[in-house]
Amino acid sequence: MTTTATAPVLLIAASPSQTSRSGALLGAAAERLHHHGLSTRTLRLRDLPAQPLLHADVEDPAIRGAIESVAQAKVIVLATPIYKAAYSGLLKVFLDLLPQDGLAGKSVWTLATGGSLAHLLALDYGLLPVLSALGARSHVDGVYAADAQIAKDAAGAYVIGDDIARRLLSGAAQVRDRVPVPVALEALARPALVL
Ligand SMILES: Cc1cc2nc3c(=O)[nH]c(=O)nc-3n(C[C@H](O)[C@H](O)[C@H](O)COP(=O)(O)O)c2cc1C
Repeated sequence: MTTTATAPVLLIAASPSQTSRSGALLGAAAERLHHHGLSTRTLRLRDLPAQPLLHADVEDPAIRGAIESVAQAKVIVLATPIYKAAYSGLLKVFLDLLPQDGLAGKSVWTLATGGSLAHLLALDYGLLPVLSALGARSHVDGVYAADAQIAKDAAGAYVIGDDIARRLLSGAAQVRDRVPVPVALEALARPALVL
């Protein structure tokens, strides 16, 4: 995935699973953001050290770095699985580490995958109020995909359905409109580091 040290868009993967549908959704969103010339940086919460994370040890270098990456971003894209009708506990543990105004002045884009559409409103009723409490004031239309809309192909890779792909395109365009022009132009001018 494309990353730069000062990417305006931070992608947060909030599934505890290594092979993750919400992670695939996030990857598909990132591709569309890159088409708009936006650079991204990815934070996989499952890769953070478990004990410092659970003990809220903000002096731990990895935890401190993760919090700093949120502070530096203009737009935060969060991708979470739906667990027990809500966003993942891993995401809540991380959000609890942010300062109370940790999302002030930032735009947020929420993505989720769930076993069915039954918990479609979990983003609006569960996650957006938390992001708002942290200061986010602008949000891009969220994308919720049921597992059937992200099927596996013969090789076992996740394939994003057409309807979801269209909604990702629309969301990516909204993100582009929220990134200040000088930052977007700077990202276009600078060669991206591909890891
Ligand atoms: C512990 C657990 C709880 C879940 N609870 C729900 C739920 O309440 N509603 C739902 O629609 N899907 C539920 N699911 C299904 C997942 O949300 C779904 O498979 C999702 O795509 C997993 O995303 P991931 O692969 O990124 O972890 C649950 C799955 C697990 C493992």
